[in-house]
Amino acid sequence: MFASLLIFTLTVRFSLGQTSRLPLVINTWPFKNATATAWGVLLSGGSVLDAVEKGCARCEMEQCDGSVGYGGSPDEHGETTLDAMIMNGDTMDVGAVADLRRIKNAIGVARAVMEHTEHTLLVGESASVFAENMGFIAEDLTTNRSLNIFSQWLKGNCQPNYRKNVFPDPKKSCGPYKPMATMKQNTRAQHANVHSHDTIGMIALDQDGHVAAGTSTNGLTHKVPGRVGDSPIVGAGAYADSSAGAAAATGDGDVMMRFLPSYLAVELMRAGADPSAACKTAISRIKRHYSDFFGAIICANTTGHYGAACNKAPGFSQFHYMVSNPKLVPPFLETENCF
Ligand SMILES: *[C@@H]1O[C@H](CO)[C@@H](O)[C@H](O)[C@H]1NC(C)=O
Ligand SMILES: *[C@@H]1O[C@H](CO)[C@@H](O)[C@H](O)[C@H]1NC(C)=O
Ligand SMILES: *[C@@H]1O[C@H](CO)[C@@H](O)[C@H](O)[C@H]1NC(C)=O
Repeated sequence: MFASLLIFTLTVRFSLGQTSRLPLVINTWPFKNATATAWGVLLSGGSVLDAVEKGCARCEMEQCDGSVGYGGSPDEHGETTLDAMIMNGDTMDVGAVADLRRIKNAIGVARAVMEHTEHTLLVGESASVFAENMGFIAEDLTTNRSLNIFSQWLKGNCQPNYRKNVFPDPKKSCGPYKPMATMKQNTRAQHANVHSHDTIGMIALDQDGHVAAGTSTNGLTHKVPGRVGDSPIVGAGAYADSSAGAAAATGDGDVMMRFLPSYLAVELMRAGADPSAACKTAISRIKRHYSDFFGAIICANTTGHYGAACNKAPGFSQFHYMVSNPKLVPPFLETENCF
């Protein structure tokens, strides 16, 4: 009698806990429409992959903060190029594109890579040709806004830029640059724009234990053409494993991708770490080498518990991200204090 009552109580508490936290959508930055779109997809019976794809695609269409989609972050030639990735945490299938040109729906192309090829990552001009063959429309990603950013940069002697150990002095002049024979020891400049945000990274979990993650970005403004950041790199920009959880990162991708923070966070949660603690350890690992890097990460485990962490850097002390679960509709803005 006592035992069965106890079991009954445990069952009720367990299932209440479950239903209140799942399904779950979380994404980096206050990109609320993206969260709402993904949530709507889940509620109308769509899969977690559909939710992540449509949520990130919403950001690509709305040019979230100018840091996702067309018309933002022109490179040294004034061109906008896109990086995106999507991961299925049930099968560990991944599709990604990097340095994608002339196609607005980068995460759609990433999903096509996953579903219509045996590959994981397609890049550059060839990725655009693949996209066109798969029915995506090629169009100019340049806008007045991106043209304006580019022309201001040219007028200002191409400052800032990402060159080093070249001549003429990249801190004073535009290129073309030639390599210098002697390397100067230089500290890494704070480039990544902490004010304009960057990159949507999104995680979706449903009540049946399916987990997916994805990213989309137009990368860094004034990047060297061909530069690919962390977003389309598996385990760096995002990672999902339905048996452990998921994570997605944002920030200075050139640094962050060296540490596979999303992979690390998921493995820590697999070993039992709380999502916030897993996120924090992933950031700490980077901080040890690059103390004032700009970056943040979101983490969720399979029961729908979530957390985030960010590195306190000049101009960046709080990180905002969005959450939707059955208790948080419409999407709720979470704020994480950086450490
Ligand atoms: C979000 O969606 C609403 C309604 O469709 C729209 O009015 C608003 O401009 C969108 N927000 C952004 C930042 O694009
Ligand atoms: C872009 O700029 C051109 C020339 O200044 C102008 O004619 C055009 O209307 C602008 N387009 C948009 C969408 O603002
Ligand atoms: C997820 O994290 C919460 C908070 O730490 C914890 O209570 C829960 O047991 C975790 N779920 C799993 C499946 O590890």
